Amino acid sequence: MSSENLKNVLITGASSGIGFELAKLFAKENYRLILVSANKERLEVAGQKLNDDYEVHVKIIPQDLAKPNAIENILKELNEDHIKVDVLVNNAGIGTFGSFVETNKDLELTTIRVNVEALTHLTKVILPGMIERKSGKILNVASIAAFFPGPLMSVYYATKAYVLSFSEALNEELRGSGVTVTTLCPGPTITEFQKKAGIDMSGTGLLLTDVSFVAKKGYEGLIKGERVVVPGFWNQVVVNLVRFIPRSLLIHAVKSWHK
Ligand SMILES: NC(=O)c1ccc[n+]([C@@H]2O[C@H](COP(=O)([O-])OP(=O)(O)OC[C@H]3O[C@@H](n4cnc5c(N)ncnc54)[C@H](OP(=O)(O)O)[C@@H]3O)[C@@H](O)[C@H]2O)c1
Repeated sequence: MSSENLKNVLITGASSGIGFELAKLFAKENYRLILVSANKERLEVAGQKLNDDYEVHVKIIPQDLAKPNAIENILKELNEDHIKVDVLVNNAGIGTFGSFVETNKDLELTTIRVNVEALTHLTKVILPGMIERKSGKILNVASIAAFFPGPLMSVYYATKAYVLSFSEALNEELRGSGVTVTTLCPGPTITEFQKKAGIDMSGTGLLLTDVSFVAKKGYEGLIKGERVVVPGFWNQVVVNLVRFIPRSLLIHAVKSWHK
């Protein structure tokens, strides 16, 4: 198939974890992969592996999404290669663990830029083309953390609440347009995320989900145009149960869980 006829998926945070697993699933369906991450070397390794294993077209765009001009640079590269994005996966994300008075200010602000600002900005610039073509799918990666406040990870949880709220609202605005927005809300999933954020995973028990399972559920939900996807039975129990627990009790429980 010539590259003009391929479907294009742009995935942020594709060098590892959930993003890399999602990239494999799109590769299996012969999408052209456009992969974005900050670390160029890691992205090159991921892109090469996907190309070797699935013989797909891979374009890498190394960009630090916390930098102000990142989205313009991505758009410029897409335009130069005349690439229309059929599927957008806003997956890149980071978190910081610790009491807010003690955590690093720059890391917290970077978390907001990557998890919230870049996701919103990229959606803003990719969406008009999808609307024009009356076709497109967006997968925004939030977390079960989107459903309640998270003492000791207050900024991270708040960014994920934003992602869920924004994405559900946008999905409704786009009803009938041919474009859907799916929010993927994973529970604790073993990736590099925990080490980078300084999180101890020992208390996660039944909630722990496998990264390839999370990606598969996200992929299937996206293709079906589902509004929200929570992978794993126990994670679904949690997000449904929290509606019935008094908020103050819930916040206290999350803090105890994190300690
Ligand atoms: N793992 C979990 O328990 C869990 C649970 C719920 C939700 N999530 C969410 O799932 C998403 C993926 O996380 P993961 O668990 O797969 O973690 P991961 O393995 O650490 O992957 C994070 C990805 O984001 C990229 N990234 C980080 N900062 C970036 C920046 N400034 N600019 C561009 N790319 C950047 C990383 O690329 P580099 O190579 O450049 O660092 C990497 O590809 C995140 O949004 C996370 O919040 C994770």
